[in-house]
Amino acid sequence: MKTVIYYFSGTGNSLAVAKKIAEALGDCTVVPIASLKDTPGVITPAAERVGIVCPVYFSGLPLMVAKFAGRVNFSHCRYTFAVVTLGGSGGGPTLSQIDSLIEKCHGRGLDAGFFVKMPGNYILMYSSPSGKQKADLLASADRQIAKIIPVIERCEHRDVPLAIYSKLLHYVAYPWFTSHARNNAQKFTVTSACTSCGTCVKVCPADNIDLVEGRPVWKDRCEVCCGCIHLCPAGAIQAGRRTAKRQRYRNPSVSITELEGQHGKRP
Ligand SMILES: Cc1cc2nc3c(=O)[nH]c(=O)nc-3n(C[C@H](O)[C@H](O)[C@H](O)COP(=O)(O)O)c2cc1C
Repeated sequence: MKTVIYYFSGTGNSLAVAKKIAEALGDCTVVPIASLKDTPGVITPAAERVGIVCPVYFSGLPLMVAKFAGRVNFSHCRYTFAVVTLGGSGGGPTLSQIDSLIEKCHGRGLDAGFFVKMPGNYILMYSSPSGKQKADLLASADRQIAKIIPVIERCEHRDVPLAIYSKLLHYVAYPWFTSHARNNAQKFTVTSACTSCGTCVKVCPADNIDLVEGRPVWKDRCEVCCGCIHLCPAGAIQAGRRTAKRQRYRNPSVSITELEGQHGKRP
């Protein structure tokens, strides 16, 4: 059965999950949602089985994924699924958000929703795990993915799990996130360690960074994926004073080149 998986990823967790599922299913195309952000109209995948894989932001969807979910037509698909990756909680309301957006768009919701706990990457609030803690989380994520794959292979139904605590967070924290996200990049600064390599420009899924006189300048459509700050090879990007000491993160199954490929076109 032909499958298409659409993904969004800042630091590689969601792309790693999408790749692992695609490899196990076979006959599967993995499409970056960022490559479709400027294409007009409804998106109708030429596949019987379709999935969305993305991170949880403030117990909800990244803005770009929410916009995408509101313009896809899955009505002809035999099976639809979503997998959200997260550092702690908020998976249930995020899956519900996808379900209601795609249902509203063309009357076809999700057949199954899953979440996978992975290393958290919200460096503006905390340090990402490293060493044994990171290795244990990634090993546990692989076990979770191994359980999800046969369910998707067999096109089985799975209810979207909803915890009351994370539902509350969705109603309180997510509106704050959606109203502040775009200007978030104003917090980013670059130190003299910058080598003008342009990695930040290339990895930004929102095309939100320009190099001006060799230095990154952030515009006003930040997704807060934190890819620029985590993936800068020189560790030159900061957001306030606290991030200097915080651990950077990239999922080890995903290369920087793969994350650069999300645009569909290279800057
Ligand atoms: C802006 C932002 C908000 C986040 N909010 C949550 C959250 O509400 N709950 C959670 O468990 N993890 C949260 N995280 C962590 C990510 O969901 C998690 O690390 C995810 O696996 C990152 O996926 P990626 O590597 O594909 O970008 C947040 C991360 C960012 C950058």
